[in-house]
Amino acid sequence: MITANSHSTHDAQADLRNDAIKIYVDGDIVPKDQAKVSVYDSGFMLGDGMWEGMRLYDGEWAFFDEHMDRLLSACKAVSLDIGLDRDGIRDILDRTATANGMIGDAHCRLMITRGRKAKPFQHPQLSQWGPTIVAIVEHSTPADSLQSRGIRLATVPQVRGLPHSQDPKFNSHSKLNCVIACLQAEQAGADEGLMLDPHGFVNTTNACNFFIVRKGAVWTSTGDYCMNGITRQKVIDLCRANDIPVFERNYSLYDAYGADEAFLTGTFGAQTPVAEIDGKTIGDAQGAGPTTLRIRALYKDLIARNVAEQKAQRA
Ligand SMILES: Cc1ncc(COP(=O)(O)O)c(C=O)c1O
Repeated sequence: MITANSHSTHDAQADLRNDAIKIYVDGDIVPKDQAKVSVYDSGFMLGDGMWEGMRLYDGEWAFFDEHMDRLLSACKAVSLDIGLDRDGIRDILDRTATANGMIGDAHCRLMITRGRKAKPFQHPQLSQWGPTIVAIVEHSTPADSLQSRGIRLATVPQVRGLPHSQDPKFNSHSKLNCVIACLQAEQAGADEGLMLDPHGFVNTTNACNFFIVRKGAVWTSTGDYCMNGITRQKVIDLCRANDIPVFERNYSLYDAYGADEAFLTGTFGAQTPVAEIDGKTIGDAQGAGPTTLRIRALYKDLIARNVAEQKAQRA
């Protein structure tokens, strides 16, 4: 049940311009109400596709190379031939942003599926016409409440599983595992689900990676059972480069409940404070605590540097 107080890590400020955006669909850039794929599409029928979420800052897609590394690795792992190189993908994103007059404060969901199928069955060979490629780029500014109030997490029964069932590193179209976790959290009266790993250690959330801060040190899971988040890795790298102790380790809810701070990471919200876990208040800061704020500032600088580097390379 969504209550007046509910919010999620992807809450954006209302922006009526998104009603009239143009969307890239298989070579065409069309008005939103005309952006359609077949009911035979592998993504619609089976969740057989991969996606990336990226943000536009000053005309550049932040950490574009890292996003492409992840997308292309995932597609290779499931034998999904995109038929495009990185420049081809960037061209699609740039053209879509330009068609919408966007330079910054925009978020892209790039979706690539195995394409239209000849029959409504599972076998990949039925996907005979090459991939379906869609890029939705929306005007997007994270809601202020995410920073001022933080997210309320509930630990949920749904886990992110072992790599030999479905590797949690796949950003696949089917997010059912995460959707179930989110539903469980919502039904427990929280905003998002905190997911454990198969051994009961604290792992990740249904939509973001999860960090705690204890006595100035930053802890996150080993990374074995969660999305290999680009923001997660940047936070770890920034801690290492700035003498903030950081550990990728197993830890339990006992450690999480007693944390001084906790935050989520993801491309959309960067670092979003966690206010509560299972009804227990985290730390004593309203909104982000001092270490989270420091990391947020370092991350903002890192984006600015990455954008400047990309601009210089393309000049
Ligand atoms: C389940 C899950 N965890 C974490 C993330 C965060 O990843 P990133 O930092 O690359 O946006 C995502 C984003 O796609 C996700 O779907």
